[in-house]
Amino acid sequence: MPVTIARDAEIAVVSVDNPPVNALSHAVRQALWDAVDQLDADPQVRAVVLICAGRTFIAGADVREFGQPPQPPHLPDLVDHIEAAQKPWTAAIHGSALGGGFEVAMGCRFRVAVSTASVGLPEVNLGIVPGASGTVRTPRLAGVESAVSLVTSGKPVKAAKALTMGLIDAVFEGDLQANAVAFARDALSRDLPPPVSARQIEAPDETFWAETAKAVTKAAKGAEAPLRALDCLRKASESPFAEALAYERKTFLELRDSDQAAALRAVFFAERAAPRPAHLKDVEPRGLKKVGVIGGGTMGAGITAALRDAGLPVVLIEQDDKAVAKGLANLRGIFAGAVKRGRLSEAAATEHLAGVTATADYAELADADLVIEAVFEEIEVKRAVFARLVTACRPDAILATNTSYLDPRLIAEGLPGPDRFIGLHFFSPANVMKLMEIVPIPETSDETLATGFALARLLRKIPVQAGICEGFIGNRILKRYRAEAEALLRRGIPVAQVDAAMRAYGFAMGPFEAQDLGGLDIAYLQREAARKAGAEVPETLGDILVHKGRKGQKTGGGWYDYEDGDRHPRPSATVDALLADRIEAGPAMDADAISSHLVGAMTAEGQAILAEGIARSSAEIDLVEIHGYGFPRWRGGPMFAGGVRG
Ligand code: 3HC
Ligand code: NAI
Repeated sequence: MPVTIARDAEIAVVSVDNPPVNALSHAVRQALWDAVDQLDADPQVRAVVLICAGRTFIAGADVREFGQPPQPPHLPDLVDHIEAAQKPWTAAIHGSALGGGFEVAMGCRFRVAVSTASVGLPEVNLGIVPGASGTVRTPRLAGVESAVSLVTSGKPVKAAKALTMGLIDAVFEGDLQANAVAFARDALSRDLPPPVSARQIEAPDETFWAETAKAVTKAAKGAEAPLRALDCLRKASESPFAEALAYERKTFLELRDSDQAAALRAVFFAERAAPRPAHLKDVEPRGLKKVGVIGGGTMGAGITAALRDAGLPVVLIEQDDKAVAKGLANLRGIFAGAVKRGRLSEAAATEHLAGVTATADYAELADADLVIEAVFEEIEVKRAVFARLVTACRPDAILATNTSYLDPRLIAEGLPGPDRFIGLHFFSPANVMKLMEIVPIPETSDETLATGFALARLLRKIPVQAGICEGFIGNRILKRYRAEAEALLRRGIPVAQVDAAMRAYGFAMGPFEAQDLGGLDIAYLQREAARKAGAEVPETLGDILVHKGRKGQKTGGGWYDYEDGDRHPRPSATVDALLADRIEAGPAMDADAISSHLVGAMTAEGQAILAEGIARSSAEIDLVEIHGYGFPRWRGGPMFAGGVRG
C-alpha cells in the first residue's frame, strides 16, 4: 500500500510510502484522492497531516510515467481535491518537497518542515514547467518575485529561507510527525487562512517583466523551459486562477513532449545510473579512510581539496620541502577562493587544511588505502613515482594515476599487484568539476574498479568508465572537435564565426575562445611529445600560433588579440596574416551549418569510441561531454543530439 492512514485522536495521519523518493505514481495519486474522500466522510477526523516514509517527502511527479499516456486522477486535480477537502490538511515535510510534491503541499492548508528539509520547483531542469499549479499557487503564497526565482532557476531553498519567503508556515527540530500533529491540532482553535488558490497576487509592472525576461534568457543559455515558466508566472499574475492553471497545464503538456525535455530526462536518468553501474552491482568496494595524493600542482591540489570536502584525511606528497610549501600554497588558494565565493566557511577551510599532511616523505603513505598520482605528464616521472609507491604503500593499497593522455598500462608495467592499479582522471578544477573518468587496465580487479566508483560517490562526482586510447573518451572527442574547427578555418570560415556558432548552439564558449583561456601550449606540448616519440602528427594551425608565442590570453594573444588585462577577444589581423597561406576560400556557412558540422564530428567520434568499446554506452559519452566539456545539457550531449541512444 503506497498510502496508509493512522489516527492520533481527532487528527488523521496520511503516510505516503513509495520508495525510493515517494514520487507521485498513478497508485499514489489515486490513494491520496481516496484518502481525501475517506477522511472527509469520517466525522471523528477534524484535521489531516500528510507525511512521508523513507528519505524524503514527495520528490515530484513520477518522471518514469512521462512517456506514457496520463491516467486520472491527474495531479492538478488531486492538488485541487486536497485543497477543497473539508478538513484542513497540513503537509509535514522532511528531505525534499519538489515539483509535484511541493504542489501537493501547496494544496494543503498548511506546510511545516524539519530544519534540514528543502522545497522547490525543479521542473525546468527537466525541460518542463510545473504542471500542477506551481506557477499559479507559488506567487499567491510567496509573491511574484520569489516565485520567479524559485520556478525559473529550479533551485530548491532550505526550510529557513522557505519560511521567510512564506512558502512554509513553521520549521521544527525533532519529531516531525508529533510536531505536525500538534500544529494541526492547534490550528483548529484559530481561524483558517484562505486556501492558496483564493489568495491575491500583487501584479508587478511592465519594467519588472522586461528586466526579468532579460535575466532569465541570459541564465537559460538556450533552454526553453525557464522562459516558458516565466510566461506562465506572468499569466498567473494577470489572469484568474482557473485560466492561469489551464495555461500552465497546456504549456506543461507541450514541453513534456519536446526534444529539450526528452534530452534532459535522458541526462537525469543517466546521471543517476552512472555512480552505480550494473556490472559492479555485486562487488563490494574497499573502504577508504586515508588517501595519498602525489603532486601538489593544479590537479593534485584540486584533488586534495575535493577529498577534504568529502572529509577524507589526505597525505600530500611533493618532491622536496620547497615544492611542499608551494603545494600547500596552492591548496590554501583553493580554500580561500571557496571562502570568498561563500562555498566554504573560514572554520571549515581551517579544518580542511588541518586534515592534510603535506610532506616529501613517502613513509607517510604506509597506511593509505588509495594513492592518486598527479605529477608531471611524463612517463618516466610517473614510473619513478610508482616504483616508490609500491615499496612505501601497503601491498593492497590501490594506486591510481590522473594521467590525461599517457597509457596507464605503460605506467603500471612491471609493478607488483597490477590488479590494484587504475586510472582516475579528474577534470580541472578538480574540486569543482563533476566528471571523473575511471580507466581500468586489463589486470584491474573488480574490487579496485568498484572502489573508483565508490570514491566518485563520496566526492559527489559523476563517474564514467573509459577504455584505454589516446585521450580516453573526453579528450579524444575534444581533439576531434578542435581538428574539425580548424578544418573550418582552412575552408575560410573566420575564427569568430565558428565561436559564435557554438555559443549560439549553447556552449558558454566556442572552441577557439576556450583554447585561448586554457592555453594553446598544453595540447601543443602533447603533440610535440608524440612527434618526438616518432608519431606522425601533422602540423596544426595552433602549432603555427604557438611557434609565434601566441599561447592564449596569458601571452596577450592566441586565436584572438587581447588588450592589457582585458579578457575580451578581438579578431586578430596578425592571426589572419599568419594563417593566410593555409586558408582556401570556400562557400560560406551559417551558424547552424557550422554547429551541426562540429557536433556531427563529435557524434561520429563517439560512435567510433562505442564501436571500439572505449565507452560502455552512448549515454555515458553524453555525460562526459556535459560534465567535462560544457556541452549544453538541454541538447542531451552529442550522442543524444545525433540520435544515438543506449
Ligand atoms: N520520478 C521517478 N524517479 C525518481 C524521481 C522522480 N521524480 N526522482 C528521483 N527518482 C529516482 C532516481 O531515478 C533514483 O532511482 P534509482 O535508485 O533507480 O537510480 C532514485 O529515485 C534516487 O534518486 P537519487 O539518486 O537522485 O537520490 P538522492 O537521495 O540523491 O536525491 C532527490 C533525492 C533530491 C529527490 C533527487 O532524486 C531529485 O532531485 N529528484 C528529482 C526531483 C524532481 O525533479 N522533481 C520534479 C519532477 S517533475 C514534476 O514534479 C512535474 C509536476 O510539476 C507536474
Ligand atoms: P602541474 O605541473 O600543475 O603539477 C604537477 C606537480 O607534480 C608539481 O607541483 C610538481 O612539483 C609535482 N611533482 C613532479 N614530480 C614529482 C614527484 N616525483 N613527486 C612528487 N611530486 C612531483 O601539473 P597538473 O596540471 O596538475 O597535471 C598533473 C597531472 O594531471 C598530469 O598527468 C596531467 O596530465 C593531469 N591532468 C591535468 C589536467 C589539467 O587540466 N591541468 C586535467 C586532468 C589531468
